[in-house]
This record gives sequence, structure tokens and C-alpha cells, in this order.
Amino acid sequence: MAIEVIGDRVFQLETANTCYQIQADRHNIVSHLWYGPKTGGQVMDYLQDYPDVGFAGSIADAGNDRTYSLDTRLQEYPCTGTGDYRISAAALDDSRGLDLRYEGYEILEGRPALEGLPHIRADHPGLQTLVLHLADRVTQVTCDLFYVVDEEHDAIIRSARFENQSDTPVRLDRAASLALDVHHGEPVDLITFTGRHNKERQHTRRRLEQGVVSAASTRGTSSHQQNPALILTGPDTTETSGWAVGAMLVYSGSFQAQAELDQLGQVRLVMGINPEGFSWKLAPQESFQTPEAVLIRSDAGLETLSLRFHQLIRDRLIPPRFRNRPRPVLINTWEAAYFNFDRKTILDIASQAADMDIDLLVLDDGWFGSRNSDNAGLGDWEVNEEKLEGSLQSLIEKVNAAGLDFGIWIEPEMVNEDSDLYRAHPDWVLKAPGRGPVRGRNQLVLDMTNPQVVDHLFQVFSGLLADNHITYVKWDMNRSLADRHSDHLPEDRQPEVHHRYMLGVYGLLNRLTDAFPDVLFEGCSGGGGRFDAGMMYYTPQIWCSDDTDPHERTFIQYGTSFFYPPDTMGSHVSASPNHQTGRRTTLETRAAAAMPGTFGYELDPGTLDNLEREEIRSLNRLYRELQPLIFHGRYYRLTRPEQGLALWEIADEDRILVQGLVYDTEPNALRRRIRLRGLDPEAVYEDRDQGRYTGQSLMTGGLLLPATSGSDAPVMVVLHRVKDAPADQPD
Ligand code: GLA
Repeated sequence: MAIEVIGDRVFQLETANTCYQIQADRHNIVSHLWYGPKTGGQVMDYLQDYPDVGFAGSIADAGNDRTYSLDTRLQEYPCTGTGDYRISAAALDDSRGLDLRYEGYEILEGRPALEGLPHIRADHPGLQTLVLHLADRVTQVTCDLFYVVDEEHDAIIRSARFENQSDTPVRLDRAASLALDVHHGEPVDLITFTGRHNKERQHTRRRLEQGVVSAASTRGTSSHQQNPALILTGPDTTETSGWAVGAMLVYSGSFQAQAELDQLGQVRLVMGINPEGFSWKLAPQESFQTPEAVLIRSDAGLETLSLRFHQLIRDRLIPPRFRNRPRPVLINTWEAAYFNFDRKTILDIASQAADMDIDLLVLDDGWFGSRNSDNAGLGDWEVNEEKLEGSLQSLIEKVNAAGLDFGIWIEPEMVNEDSDLYRAHPDWVLKAPGRGPVRGRNQLVLDMTNPQVVDHLFQVFSGLLADNHITYVKWDMNRSLADRHSDHLPEDRQPEVHHRYMLGVYGLLNRLTDAFPDVLFEGCSGGGGRFDAGMMYYTPQIWCSDDTDPHERTFIQYGTSFFYPPDTMGSHVSASPNHQTGRRTTLETRAAAAMPGTFGYELDPGTLDNLEREEIRSLNRLYRELQPLIFHGRYYRLTRPEQGLALWEIADEDRILVQGLVYDTEPNALRRRIRLRGLDPEAVYEDRDQGRYTGQSLMTGGLLLPATSGSDAPVMVVLHRVKDAPADQPD
């Protein structure tokens, strides 16, 4: 049993390798006892200490007991106004405060549905859910805490659901998906993934000091700047040893994750919708469901943590129909032509791409309305037949005849002011009353809280997909939200706009992906501005970054890999010199960086010579051979890019891929020796030159990398497992 009730007050959640314990204590506070390795049946309440700490207030029902203070207790879902001065999970905009106490529990087989929000899917057997019922006696607000236990994936999936059972409205000002308290006793590190447009998810590790550190977005998207996934670790945790707890929010809007090291050396993590700009009205009998957040713990270092997240995302998050389906090698027109194309440009790209064995052509921005630059036309999704010199379907037929499938770029959530849509519906955008709108890339944000807008978009894009033979859609989103006002919502619902916006986006994604289950949707937001588990529920791959420079990409993909598996990362070979950085690199370098992902090209094939075309053909062959390994294998970060080389290993039962870039080649140096990981020690592997090695020797002695030359030198080594064969013996 994954969930066990010990006595009637202790709840134990066990996964394959971890144990989580909760106790409804003598004051009905839901306290946190343990999240760690299994305890051998021990209830960990003996670790609770009750010091009389100065200036730590006690709840009324503790009477004169100055040793019982919520300011010192480890809790599951702390609220403000209870004498706990640390960061809190929930708050009402109400001077009566919020004091949630335990009332009872339920254990459910499987998991309850989470209407309207992306979530960990229930379509594998083996899930169980603990629901703790909490209530505030005074305001009559109830709160159910959900703990979905995924034993196999070592995951505990948290969320909360509030309900107003009184007869007066209340406002929910803060409603986190999870809070997690960590025992005192050793320093704790926090790892976050930070950056900006063209430089997403840079790995950032710091030691927590007393105070609060936050990773957050108020942009209405999860953002390029901070990713909604972070890790707490012990001070000495490495890739292969030490504890690590990862928390990943399944949400794509404004979020906040905070970690606080308190006065007693305990750490509290709180994660959920960003309370800034958020306040949800709960009319009598109304309820509010938070997005969910996934907790996974590893006691064998960061690599195990990542492997568990990767497996969970592959098995339970991305749309099931894409789990085992090969993904196309594609060519995208953006960096090839930007807005400057006509029918001939596209067909030239198509025929050359077909000749190079590429599967699918994506017609990026610029095919509709008056969209010849990013200043006009967004929102007008009528095909620009003048520019395309005929109908879209007739173009698609030509592309198909050349031997390629056809994909298309859309940006549903946005509108240019210079568009027919905006002229017809100026009230369909988010805009603060009495102010000019905040512009981004010269576009405004459509009011996705308005069902009329969502219905309109559904009509437009379902028409596009029904009328044309399109097998892939790139769903883009190219600015941050700023205005928090919708003409559609009443005044007292305005602070709900950004979350309702996200619900509208999810609703549209749901309808479109349901109506066109065979179309592959790739997420995008100026590259990786919405690279999160929420989007992955609908779009099994997401364009990782607009920065296609292979050197830069190794840093971005390194950070991305801590939570998200390579099969979710859209990554392409682009032109040299690179359009973002000007760096010159070889095709092989660009391919080595792009391969641990969904693979494709972002360049004008007309600029390639015959040798390069031949090289691309063989790269595509290699990638197709390797895609099952890349999509299903175990991914190991062999180095940190700051060490001067970015190397990763992907291994399954039969093969090992060792790949990456060596940033600088040194003269007169021995070849680099690198230890592989996660192999069967007994197995024998063979390289291209028939060299044979045991798994054990590759993991302890290591692999000698081929000699490199120049900067950003590519490494691509494939080893095959040899059945029933001995390793090399001395002659
Ligand atoms: C964003 C995307 C690019 C491209 C452009 C088109 O920046 O990330 O890949 O699609 O929009 O405008």
C-alpha cells in the first residue's frame, strides 16, 4: 500500500524509494514529520522539538504552553495570521485570518480529475491519493490537501482545493500548490534555472542564508527569466550522491517559488500561483483548485532526481499518443527567410529539404493577413494568398508532392493593433482602464478570460486544421502580459485575470488537441519562455530557445535537463555564422548540440554546398537511428559546462551515446578521459573501431574521447552492447 494510516493521526506515503509522513497533531495542525528515505516503520515524530523561542507566539488553544508555536513547527500548509511569521501557503483578504485545522481524511484509488488544468495523468495503474480535509472554523472556508502518490515514479503530487462554505464571499489572496518544510541540522542549497530571452534556464546554485529567496514570474507566463522548477539539496550533493528534492509546478502562468531559511535553521519551500496580482473571489459554495506541483526526492544525487522527473514526464505528462511515436526531422522557414518569402522560396526550401531527407517543412510567421513584419497582421489568420501565390492547401500539396509533411506556425493569444481583428474587437484585449496598453513586440494580448475570444480562436484554428493537410503546429506566444484588466470580467474579478487567462489558454489547447489528436503541437514562447510542465501536457515538445548557437545551447540544454527530458526539447541546426551570436561553427558541432532533442534545421538550404548536403543526409540517418535512444534512454550529465566542456551520455539496454562539445582544444594534451555512468557493469560494449570495454571499466576507468581540434569541437561516440562477448584481453 502506498498510503498507510498509522494510529489514526499519522499518514505515511511510500514510493519505491521514499517515505513522506504527515501528522494531524494534538491541536489538529497538519504537521510535517518526514520526507526522506524509508524509515523502517519508524514514525518520525521524535524529531519534533518544542523549544520556548522568544517572540514566537502560541495559538490560543495551546493556552499557557509557550513551547507550542506555529512559528517553530514543521507544517504541511501554513497560513498567515496564526503566529507563524515565515512564508505561508495560504491567506485570505480578511482580518479574521485563516486558521486551517484537520477535520478528517480520505484515501482514493487512482487520482481525482483536475478539470481545466494540466496534470499528471491517471492512465497508468498504481496511483493512490490521500485527501486531508482542513477547515477554518471562523470563516467557514475549507481546504482539501491532495497528495497523489505515484509509487513507481517516486513522485508525490500536491495541490489544494478551497471552498467557501459560508454565506458571504471571501477573497483568496494566496493559494499555493505546495509547502514543504525541511528539518534543521545542515546547510541547504537551492538550485534554480534563471536567464532571459535567448539565454534560458541557466543552472544557478546558492547556499541558503537566513531569509527568503524567490524564483518567480509576474509575466503571465512561466518565463525565460525563472523556470517553475527548483531543487533543494544538501550542501555536498553532487550528480551521484547526496539528497535532493525537486519541485516542479505543472503550470505555465505567473508563479512564485520561495525558499526560506528560518531563525532555527529549518527550510520552508512554498510554490504555486504568484500571489502578486492574484486575488480570487470565492462566492458562497464556490471553490478554487490550485495547479499541481510534483515533488520527487533522490538520495543518490541529482542524476537520479533528473532520471525520475524525465520518466514521469514521459510516462504521465506528455500526451500519451506521442509517447512512442517517432517525431519528424523538420526544417523551419524562420531563420531561412524570416518574413521575406513567396511560394517559390517555400517550394525551393521544400525540394532541397526533401533531397536532404528531411521529414517536414514548417511554414513559420508571415503567411497570413498583412503580416510582412511583426508590426501588423497578427490576429488575421486568413491565408495571404497573394504572398503564397495561391491557396495554402495548394502549397501544401506541392510540399507533400516533394516528399515532406507540412507544419505551420500560429500565435493564437496575440493581436497587432494594425489588424482587422483588433479594429473589429478593440475590447478583446487586456488593457488597464484609462491607460494606454503596454506593448510588447508591437502586439497586444487577447483576453483569453473571455469565452467569446476563445471560441473565435477555436473556430479559426480548427478551420485551418480541418481545411488543410497540416500535421504539425508551432504554437507561439511572443510577449509578457502586463495589463491586468479584462473588459469581460466584473470589477471584483479583475485580480483573477492572469490565472483566468491561463485557464483560457489551456481550454483552447485542450479543445484543439482533442479535435486534432494526430497533429503534433510544439510549444514556443520566443523560444523557451513557456518551457514548463503545464505546456508539456498538451505539447510534447517545446522550442527550447531562440538562441540556436550550439555553444550557448549546451548551457541552456544543461539547465533544462535537470527536470525535462531531451525528447521535450526542440533543438535545431542553424546557419553559421549564427544569427544570434555571430559565432562560426561546423555543421558537426551544430548537430552534436542539437541532437539530444527533437532535431531539425533552421537555415536556408540554398546556402549549403554539396558536401554539406551530403553531411546533412548522414546526420539525419544517424539521428533517426538514435532517436529511440534519445527519447527513451537514461540521460546523464557527465560534465558541468563551466568545466570547459559539455558532455552528456544517453544509455539504454543496447547502446550508449556520448556526446557534446569541448569548448577549447589544448595543445600537447592527452585525450580526455571521461567516466560513464549508469551502465550494467557486466555488459560489454563495442565502439566503432571494435574496441571492447566492460560497463565496469567505462564507469571506473572511463572512456578516452577522440582527439579534438579547434573551438567547440564536437564529440559523438556511439557504443553498442555486444551480446555474449568478452572485453578486450591483452595479447
Ligand atoms: C518567436 C519564435 C521564433 C519565430 C518567431 C516568429 O520568436 O521563438 O522561432 O517563430 O517568433 O515571429
